[in-house]
Amino acid sequence: MWGGVACYYTPFVRIEKGEFRRKELIDIAPENNTNTPVVPQMLPGDAGELKRLVTLFRENGYSRADINMGCPFPPVALHGRGSGLLPHKEKVAEIMKAVREEREVQFSVKMRLGWEDKNEWRDLIDILNDTSLTHITIHPRIGRQQYKGVVDMESFEQFCELCKHPIIYNGDLNSMRDIENITTRFPQIKGIMMGRGLLARPYLSKLISSDVPYTAGEIIEQTEKFHNALYEELVATSQGNTQLLQRAHALWEYFLPHAPRKERKAVLKSSSPAQYSSAVARLFESWHAVSNEVEAL
Ligand SMILES: Cc1cc2nc3c(=O)[nH]c(=O)nc-3n(C[C@H](O)[C@H](O)[C@H](O)COP(=O)(O)O)c2cc1C
Repeated sequence: MWGGVACYYTPFVRIEKGEFRRKELIDIAPENNTNTPVVPQMLPGDAGELKRLVTLFRENGYSRADINMGCPFPPVALHGRGSGLLPHKEKVAEIMKAVREEREVQFSVKMRLGWEDKNEWRDLIDILNDTSLTHITIHPRIGRQQYKGVVDMESFEQFCELCKHPIIYNGDLNSMRDIENITTRFPQIKGIMMGRGLLARPYLSKLISSDVPYTAGEIIEQTEKFHNALYEELVATSQGNTQLLQRAHALWEYFLPHAPRKERKAVLKSSSPAQYSSAVARLFESWHAVSNEVEAL
């Protein structure tokens, strides 16, 4: 709806007890990804899993795949997947060998600096450099940190010096200023990836990519339309009001943290779809009344 995003990556697809998970199959189904370029992401623990996952992606019509070597979630990482792969050079080597053997699909990697130590990437960089990849997206934290502390820009700079692949920066980009700071300081990077910052302010992609100035009123109006379109989709796909509210509340964990506080709280506390909708309408109304500067958004 907003535009300005060059590519979306799906949530990771994994193998659990030998099977793919239904929800993840729905996420990558081509009929659910018609409007934007989408790259499916996999969470392999070894070369065998990578091969099964890449076959699944190919069967769904994809010719690109992203490998998740960054997930910090302990149940994932402690089982040697996501950022939990990073201390295991031999496992990464085995996975990259399988990447080199695959002819039809082009790979990229998403990673952190390490799981336990910010220097783990140094042991992997030659293997990664020797593998054909479209790019590496790096989030300069270690897995153990989860999302705590600050991003390690010094390590990111060193990574840029030693990595031969195009690099995409990811982490803590929450405003136009954050994005400008990164692209000015690291003009050599190929792009940026946004997660929570874009969930919080979905219009940032439009503001970055458009030369047309927007007023605060226009942004808020479009954001309300964006929310309503998303909510309609949740209504159409949820099984009952409890699931609908759960999913809508989950959106607001990240969405518009800077919107008026009292009204936002009322949205999160709403206990029926009717209450939810009127709380959302009130929130956008009062946001209109208090925000007249784009910079404040
Ligand atoms: C709830 C949640 C789910 C996530 N799921 C994925 C995922 O499936 N694949 C992935 O590469 N990153 C995932 N991430 C990480 C984000 O893509 C991103 O790397 C991280 O949040 C840091 O960037 P940000 O500060 O822009 O959010 C997830 C993050 C959160 C908070």
